[in-house]
Amino acid sequence: MASTTVPPEVAARVKDLREQIHYHNYRYYVLDDPVISDDEFDRLMRELMRLEEEHPELITSDSPTQRVGAPPLEKFETVVHRQPMLSLENAFSEAETREFDERLKRFLRTAEDFHYVVEPKMDGVAVELVYENGRLTVGSTRGDGVRGENVTQNLKTIHTIPLQMLKDQEAIPELLEVRGEVYMDLAEFKKLNEQRRAQGEPAFANPRNAAAGSLRQLDPNITAARPLKIYCYGIGEVAGRAFETQWEVLQTLKAWGFRINPLIERHTGIGPAIAYHHRLEHQRHGLPYEIDGVVIKVDSLILQERLGTKTRSPRWALAYKFAATQETTRVLNIVVNVGRTGAVTPMAVMEPVEVGGVTVTRATLHNEDEVARKDVRVGDTVLIQRAGDVIPEVVKVILEERPPDARPFQMPTRCPVCHTPLVRPAGEKVTRCPNPGCGGALVRGIFHFAAKTAMDIDGLGEKIIAQLVDNGLVQDVSDLYKLTEDDLIPLERFAEKSAQNIINAIQKSKRVTLERFLYALGIRYLGEATAQLLARHFGTLEALMAADFNELTQVEGIGPTVAQSIVEYFNEPRNQERLAKLQAAGLEIIPPERPAVSPLAGKTFVFTGALTISREEAKALVTARGGKVSSSVSAKTDYVVSGTDPGSKYAKARELGITILDEAAFLELVR
Ligand code: IVH
Repeated sequence: MASTTVPPEVAARVKDLREQIHYHNYRYYVLDDPVISDDEFDRLMRELMRLEEEHPELITSDSPTQRVGAPPLEKFETVVHRQPMLSLENAFSEAETREFDERLKRFLRTAEDFHYVVEPKMDGVAVELVYENGRLTVGSTRGDGVRGENVTQNLKTIHTIPLQMLKDQEAIPELLEVRGEVYMDLAEFKKLNEQRRAQGEPAFANPRNAAAGSLRQLDPNITAARPLKIYCYGIGEVAGRAFETQWEVLQTLKAWGFRINPLIERHTGIGPAIAYHHRLEHQRHGLPYEIDGVVIKVDSLILQERLGTKTRSPRWALAYKFAATQETTRVLNIVVNVGRTGAVTPMAVMEPVEVGGVTVTRATLHNEDEVARKDVRVGDTVLIQRAGDVIPEVVKVILEERPPDARPFQMPTRCPVCHTPLVRPAGEKVTRCPNPGCGGALVRGIFHFAAKTAMDIDGLGEKIIAQLVDNGLVQDVSDLYKLTEDDLIPLERFAEKSAQNIINAIQKSKRVTLERFLYALGIRYLGEATAQLLARHFGTLEALMAADFNELTQVEGIGPTVAQSIVEYFNEPRNQERLAKLQAAGLEIIPPERPAVSPLAGKTFVFTGALTISREEAKALVTARGGKVSSSVSAKTDYVVSGTDPGSKYAKARELGITILDEAAFLELVR
């Protein structure tokens, strides 16, 4: 247990471990280029955990063990920024951007071209990180620019934010304020929304809202579970280090271990800065995150100072925004689309319009109620938008422009593909084609099965699948594995070679990880993230199939909607038959690489009453073993640890029949 004096070699080892862990954290998260294995990293972390457990007096706020586990707050404190966090003036055209350059030249009475640093304008949440003698002490949101919220505990959970600046090459200043943008990658945003929908929670409208919502959580454990990242782009106040240019600032921040966007460039004159904007505008849809323009900054800090600031924005910087991702166009028709689960989705077919660099002709209207709520009619002029990388959607109708003969939409009564009468169960929003053999649903189901993130059958596109279905060769995904080259060669567009390639790709897909396989099945509400959770939890298909509704809802991240859908899927005889056929075809399902090693992984603990060890320490013991700590008792709680004078949580735990441990039993369990 805690000793009063710490042997110097232990203190030295703790210091050494922390430096190593900070460095490897930086290699892994910031540079994306680790130099040790995950296991080696875990060993370092475990050793540090153990030493800190034995000598809690050594724990410091910047220890790598302190990223998670801080207790929830009642409310955020206010932080006054030492220097206001300004916003940027916007430009939407090349002309306005040239005008900005000329204005600066006039202001400084110079004809000489400026050096400009050009940066992607990240669409996230602006934050400020304060480092005192290299240690992160306060992190805050921008707020109104003068005052923000103290979200230090939340920012600490973001692995790309250094808790301790790297010391290698550059001396550490006494004070450094770093500014940057916290954001969420698009793929992670999609996964998060998928999880939220599956759990009946509202989805976030875009990655920026998701990042902002995640950062403004009073419970840092929630933030820790959200995949946030940061790119740093500037500094506020500094003491103990002088800079001459923005470029030097960025390079030095990089050397200190901060994450800097690799797309940042430096140019001379406004011409190349404009060219950079055009280049990024083309590149933006291939980026893993959202950007809404480029920021052009005068490189020289002396010139920046001479140029000064206006009320809300500096004179030396400009946000040159990309073309809007919202446009108006006219609805030519409203058709319905049959999805792989048989869901029938109304889609607006529109006059082609360019939205954010892409020509769009269709937008989703989601479902019958949405069409009614937005009152979209054929002939209407509508505002459409592309949010994230999802299909464009109709935002609203421009009613002023509605022609007198605009025609309201009526949901068809029969499936446009197989003509089976459509159904819409009471209380549901989605209309469906109930025919499991419906061509439309079947083709999309197979397309989903073959997708890169599912069974990854290379070359099996929608057109080929439609041919296979139309020719009666495939009536179920399991039929794919019975196909031979001879089946394919007579079909249009097939030569021997291409037939062979597809058959090979199909055969190759037989070796598949459990999570991909689960995702491939196309079970309603079961997306990639949920498939991963289930694979990790159950380890085998058999174990998952054997689980009932209650067991499923016990899995962290699985709500009643997904659980119900899984139970229904495995109970359906058609699906059982499909699985049997797939297994007979020789499918080899690979169990997840890292099954839950620790018996505490995924378990939720709640503490009540006073313990002899600190709450922080108790939490660290749990989180280090993959468990979680929650502040309130619910049906999802696995253990309640009760110290002396327990509160109402004790009674609640008894009421719910949750295992209650005293401190000794708890320590035995975790050790
Ligand atoms: S510089 C005075 N650089 O844009 C300089 N801002 O409209 C102000 N942003 O609040 C910030 N990427 O959240 C700067 N590379 C970048 C940026 C960036 C995104 C955001 C930032 C700021 C907002 C200003």
